[in-house]
Amino acid sequence: MKKILVTGACGYIGSHTIVSLLGRGYEVIGVDSMERGKDYVPERVKQITGKGFHNYHANLCNLKNARYVFETEKDIAAVIHFAAYKQVGESVEKPLRYYGNNLIALINVLICLREFNVADFIFSSSSSVYGNITELPVKEDTNVTEQTSPYGRTKYFSEKMISDFANIHRLKTFILRYFNPAGCHESALLGEPIEEKPSNLVPAITSAAAGRQEFFLVNGDDYPTRDGSCIRDYIHVMDVAEAHIAAMENLFNNTAQNSFTDVINLGTGNGISVLEMIKAFEKTTGHKLNYRHGPRRAGDPAAIYSDNTKAEKILKWKPGRSLETMMLSAWKWEQANASVDVK
Ligand code: WQD
Repeated sequence: MKKILVTGACGYIGSHTIVSLLGRGYEVIGVDSMERGKDYVPERVKQITGKGFHNYHANLCNLKNARYVFETEKDIAAVIHFAAYKQVGESVEKPLRYYGNNLIALINVLICLREFNVADFIFSSSSSVYGNITELPVKEDTNVTEQTSPYGRTKYFSEKMISDFANIHRLKTFILRYFNPAGCHESALLGEPIEEKPSNLVPAITSAAAGRQEFFLVNGDDYPTRDGSCIRDYIHVMDVAEAHIAAMENLFNNTAQNSFTDVINLGTGNGISVLEMIKAFEKTTGHKLNYRHGPRRAGDPAAIYSDNTKAEKILKWKPGRSLETMMLSAWKWEQANASVDVK
């Protein structure tokens, strides 16, 4: 049974990917600084899958920690690297914290891949890399313009570092650019860590619906879109998790090459507006949402959604879960876990 190292194991996408990995029969080793990772994740993953994984409580920004994990876990077949800060707004306020954390952790992982001869690597990237979009839907070779946040730039720099590194070391890599992951595992035992004042759309809707916020604020209704609100590509987190398995198994099966880096969009290919998301939530849950229209949010592009045909062609993967399934799972998660995550 192949052993897979997952960094950021107790985070949102990492924990859901571990559920998929264990379900596919892989052995999983996790590492997480637990600064933002949730300590209930290992136990709940075991509840869902019947299998556990060992999680190293370690910050990968310390090369000694990274080496310790690779030394202890000798025969790692592949690494899936999620560990990073990911809040766009926070990155604007704390740029050095984002550059330091996201880039140094990656550099240390790349050093260990070389030192311990791990040849298969999956990197968690983001549609934020594209910057202000000039053409829609966004393809992997769409011209990348200036990113709109330090967060987006950490992902852009990371991609360049990986590609430069893979060019001189034996490393096969898929860089997966997520659009807007949302929703949670059907058990409502795992989900996006719930914040007191959520910044992302879906948790902001569910927190307003649950009465944790007085109302949901629509950030701008005067954009050049079909209803004036911003358009995004929301993809169920379990579809994102399954895409990582497909990418990893593609690397395992690709014995012809020993070094390449390829970028793949993970999105549904459908653009949905903020107002349409509100309607989808209300229709799916039967819950009327109290919302108001407010000013635009700095840094928001009017519309961004993916062309996901490359994922289907290369990974033989396409998203299968509906917007309704996504909304319902997010609502269940809010009701089940807000009191745990928000102290
Ligand atoms: C979506 C739309 C908001 C909250 C995200 C992540 C980023 C990266 C890319 C992972 C925008 C509007 C939101 C609210 C609103 N993901 N909105 N009221 O900005 O596309 O970026 O995906 O790498 O980390 O932040 O997603 O959910 O923040 O916003 O109107 O209370 O919803 O203005 O138009 P975004 P989001």
